[in-house]
Amino acid sequence: MEDLSLHLLDIVENATAAGATLVEIGVRQNSIKNELSITVRDNGRGMERDILAKVRDPFTTTRKTRRVGLGIPLLEQACHEAEGRLDIMSEPGLGTEVTAVFQVDHIDRKPLADIGATLVTLIVGNSDVDFRYESNIDGEKILLDTREIKAELDGIYIGDPEVLALIRNLFQKRRANPSRHTAGGRINGEIED
Ligand SMILES: Nc1ncnc2c1ncn2[C@@H]1O[C@H](COP(=O)(O)OP(=O)(O)OP(=O)(O)O)[C@@H](O)[C@H]1O
Ligand SMILES: [Mg+2]
Repeated sequence: MEDLSLHLLDIVENATAAGATLVEIGVRQNSIKNELSITVRDNGRGMERDILAKVRDPFTTTRKTRRVGLGIPLLEQACHEAEGRLDIMSEPGLGTEVTAVFQVDHIDRKPLADIGATLVTLIVGNSDVDFRYESNIDGEKILLDTREIKAELDGIYIGDPEVLALIRNLFQKRRANPSRHTAGGRINGEIED
């Protein structure tokens, strides 16, 4: 896997597979501290202590389709390659929080790549799950909450191509114009234009 956004997709898929109805994703980069962290918190079923203890092992999976589970081991490997670490907290019945930390400037640190595309994929593929995404990349902030977007869409399906294009735009605009963007009013406003 070349990009951290693909690892992110994998970790969020674990959350949705665990029955989460809300997945909160945080991406924080502080280049002065040389730290990049990605956090995925879900309210799914959580992991029993025995699974949690061996979840970093590729032979740990509760999948029925194959005997290896690579999402977490591959992310941990990516963290270690960039002098970082992977923290996992989980409470049965409450949820799970996975935090991946990397050295920003490490030569082996994978690029974040297209997080906007990853979010769109997740939103389309799990329209009954809500996502809150918050990033702060050296002070450039993006906030997107599908609960707020859905409330403002007033019945329009969140997977509507026009809505998804606006979500993608939020990420592109940030690159072009590094000010603060918040999804919700802005998206609604643009749809009504
Ligand atoms: N957020 C989560 N909530 C509950 N259980 C989880 C969560 N993340 C991982 N697990 C448990 O850990 C196991 C291993 O996860 P991992 O992502 O490494 O592999 P996998 O999802 O089983 O397979 P793959 O990622 O290769 O498709 C899962 O099968 C699941 O039982
Ligand atoms: Mg997985």
